[in-house]
Order: sequence, then C-alpha cells, then structure tokens
Amino acid sequence: MNNLTPKGIALRISLLVATIVTIIVLLAQAYADKYNFLVIGCVYPAAFFSSYFGFLIAIEKFIYSKIKLVYRTIHNLKRNKNSNLKNISLDTDILNQVREDVIEWDKTNKQEIERLKDMESYRREFVGNVSHELKTPIFNIQGYLLTLLEGGLYDEKINTSYLTKANKSVERMIAIIEDLDQITKLESGIIEMNIQKVDLTELTQEVINSIDITAQEKKIKIKIINHTNKPSVFVFADNDKVSQVLVNLIVNSFKYGKEGGETKIEFFDMDEHILVEVSDNGQGIPEEHHARLFERFYRTDKGRARNAGGSGLGLSIVKHIIEAHEQTINVRSTPNEGSTFSFTLKKYSNK
Ligand SMILES: Nc1ncnc2c1ncn2[C@@H]1O[C@H](COP(=O)(O)OP(=O)(O)OP(=O)(O)O)[C@@H](O)[C@H]1O
Ligand SMILES: [Mg+2]
Repeated sequence: MNNLTPKGIALRISLLVATIVTIIVLLAQAYADKYNFLVIGCVYPAAFFSSYFGFLIAIEKFIYSKIKLVYRTIHNLKRNKNSNLKNISLDTDILNQVREDVIEWDKTNKQEIERLKDMESYRREFVGNVSHELKTPIFNIQGYLLTLLEGGLYDEKINTSYLTKANKSVERMIAIIEDLDQITKLESGIIEMNIQKVDLTELTQEVINSIDITAQEKKIKIKIINHTNKPSVFVFADNDKVSQVLVNLIVNSFKYGKEGGETKIEFFDMDEHILVEVSDNGQGIPEEHHARLFERFYRTDKGRARNAGGSGLGLSIVKHIIEAHEQTINVRSTPNEGSTFSFTLKKYSNK
C-alpha cells in the first residue's frame, strides 16, 4: 500500500466492501432460498459507489484536518488562509507531497538561519573594525591634549606641533566617517547618480595632475595609454564618482607600487563599453586576498597599510561606485610583479 493516493485507497476499500456486501446478500438469499438477481445486480454498484464516496469524504476530511496543521506550522497559514491546501489533490500521494514540502521548508529555514548568522558576524566584525579604526586617532588626540594640559601648552617647542598633530588625527577621523557615510549611502541607493557624457582621457589627466606630487615622492612614472582608435574616450558616467574611483586606484598604485616604478592607465574599446585598467609594477597581492579585497576595512597587510595611513575603505567605495554604474571591477595581481585593477564603463554614443 506504499505511495497510494487517497483515491486509490478509497477505490480498493470500496471494491472490498462491495464484494463483501454482495456476498452477504447472496448468502442471505441462499439462506432464504429465494434468489432475486435484480437485487444482486444492484447491490454491487450501489455498495461500491456509496462506500467509495463515503471513504473519499472521510479520508479528505481526515487528511485536511491533519495536513492543515502541518501547513499551518510551516507556512503560517493563519495569515495566509488555506492557500496551500487548495493545491492538495486527492489524486496525488499527499503524504509524500507533505514530506517533500516539509523538507523544502526545513532547507529554506536552514538557509535563512545561515544568512542571519553571516549578517550577524558581518555586523559584529564591522562594529569592531569601526571602533578599532577610530581608537588610534582618538588615543593620539588624547595623548597630545594631556601633554598640553600638563604644561606643554606653555612650551613653545611643542605646543603648536602637538595641536597640529591632534588636528591631523581629527582630520583622519573625519575622513573615515565620511568614507563610511558614503559607503552607507551608496549601499542604500540614496546617492543620486549624475550620469552624463564624460571625457575619460581628460578626467584621468585632471586626476593625475591633482595627485602627481605623491608619485614624484616615489619617483613613479605615470603613463596614459589609449588603445581605442579615437583621440578621446567618451563614456556615460558620473564625472565626480569616476574621478573618485581613479583617485583611489591611482593612489593605491603609488602607495603599494615600488620606488621608481610605473603606473599605467589604459583604455580599451569593448564595443558597447570602455575597459579601464590601472596597473602598477609594485608589491602585488597574493591570490588568497583577491576575493576579499573590496570588503570594507580589508587590508592585505594590516600593519603596513595602517602605517601608510589607509583605512581599507578605498576599494570598497570604488566597487560600490562601479556597481552603481551597473558595471564590474576586477583585480589581477602577482606578488612582487604588480597589480591591475580593471573596470568597465558604458561607452558614450550619440545614436
Ligand atoms: N595596487 C595595489 N597593490 C598592492 N596592494 C594593494 C593595491 N591596492 C590595494 N591593495 C591592498 O588592498 C588593501 C585595500 O585597499 P584600499 O584602497 O581599500 O585601502 P587602503 O589603501 O589601505 O586605505 P584607503 O584607500 O581607505 O585610504 C590595501 O590595504 C592593500 O593591502
Ligand atoms: Mg586605498
């Protein structure tokens, strides 16, 4: 009787009942020695149909009352009245269907629990990172202020320099908070994108002019290479945000590039898109970091990057900006050879 449908069960039982009833009627007639074949002919179908529908109604009632409880538990039927029961057909193997639904429900629940656990650990890690990042400048400020309060204020040799250093730490805190604020806004889609025609070659040159001084400190050569067959590269993008992306990537190429090295910014024509690549021949990034590189606060070398003044928010902002343009960013890198960050932007066409 495995995997029988309710209709199958009712059919088998009714056949049995109809046969027994007919035999009883036959025996009764034999006992009375009075055979009525019309009665015998009617008894079988009558017994069959009445017991079939009787059983079907009883089974249906029983299953509905039991299964309703199961579905009420797994699908919260109180709020969503009977919606799942409408799909139950007496032609199907209901118990098996319920078993499969329960397994499915269990799987979804487990996935949801995993997702909540991930979110919780992500939240905990995030709060830990924020407080860790803010702690350093706050303790620095406190140190300078205490020294000044304890008499340093009247010491001409240190008072101005300590105040200047305290102010630097305040600026660092503001920078971190502004970066976090921007990430939050980009994530929640609050920031409005001002998409327009942007001359990428011109914008890149402007960005380089504004940060050139850092490159000079490390004697890094900068090259813009346009592989498209047009003198200017036009894209549809938010000018200020793409400028921010270029600043972040180019400054990283200086920061993690080698003394006397080279930074290249290249443009490739990809039919509907422009591919931009920013590469350096610096320290490179080991493969195991690539997947997490664009996470907030992620650094490959915690100690060194912190000394370099970075908070590990740059690439996270870059990724959010590129995604807000509905484009993607990738990294290729080999330790001690260099890194290449590549992203696409929609090509401007006046069609
Ligand atoms: N071009 C690169 N070469 C080698 N490592 C890099 C490069 N760019 C980024 N990284 C690694 O990725 C990490 C994250 O970079 P990201 O720009 O997000 O943070 P940051 O530069 O440390 O700080 P911020 O940009 O917020 O000032 C860096 O700390 C560094 O370890
Ligand atoms: Mg950076």
